[in-house]
Amino acid sequence: MIRFAPETPDDWWEVEALYDLCFAPGREALSSYRLRDDVERVAAMCRVARDESGVLAGAIRVWPIAVGDAPALLIGPIAVHPTHQGEGLGGALIRDCIAQSQGWDRALLVGDAPYYGRFGFRLLKDVVMPPPTNPERVLGLELSPGGWDGIVGTVRRASSETS
Ligand SMILES: CC(C)(COP(=O)(O)OP(=O)(O)OC[C@H]1O[C@@H](n2cnc3c(N)ncnc32)[C@H](O)[C@@H]1OP(=O)(O)O)[C@@H](O)C(=O)NCCC(=O)NCCS
Repeated sequence: MIRFAPETPDDWWEVEALYDLCFAPGREALSSYRLRDDVERVAAMCRVARDESGVLAGAIRVWPIAVGDAPALLIGPIAVHPTHQGEGLGGALIRDCIAQSQGWDRALLVGDAPYYGRFGFRLLKDVVMPPPTNPERVLGLELSPGGWDGIVGTVRRASSETS
């Protein structure tokens, strides 16, 4: 049985180790990490999943960003331990995370459309991530009806007013 909980400060290094295991070396060189530097996370949406022994099975983190002047959520990184992949945990983590998004109108992530499409994420043609991001991987989810309508521009770090 897997339990979901908010990530606490005590979870930090365990989550980092899971990300190191699941992502290619140099993950922190990605442009999406520059959007996170020195920005406080959306604590309620950063979730961990632990198995019955308390071992970390998955984690997801979320930061505020801005697209033009519009506040948005940057979802991810998300990772599931290789021993638990393909069991539906990734999907459950995404849904659990999004369930905590009250007050936000839109979310963005950089990922594979065939996977994230099943959760409602669609290609954002008019939103530009800092290079070198493949534009085909810039995906958005409406958290309120029309949440992405008319939102265009470059993704930037959240100012303190949007975080
Ligand atoms: C991506 C990840 C979070 C998915 O978690 P998971 O628990 O294995 O996913 P689920 O069990 O919810 O879903 C599995 C399904 O998604 C599919 N899937 C997984 N990753 C996919 C991808 N990148 N592209 C397309 N489909 C994908 C699987 O083929 C499987 O399909 P099925 O339901 O038709 O059998 C996990 O594989 C992982 O941690 N990968 C390494 C880190 C990573 O790439 N993170 C995402 C960065 S954008």
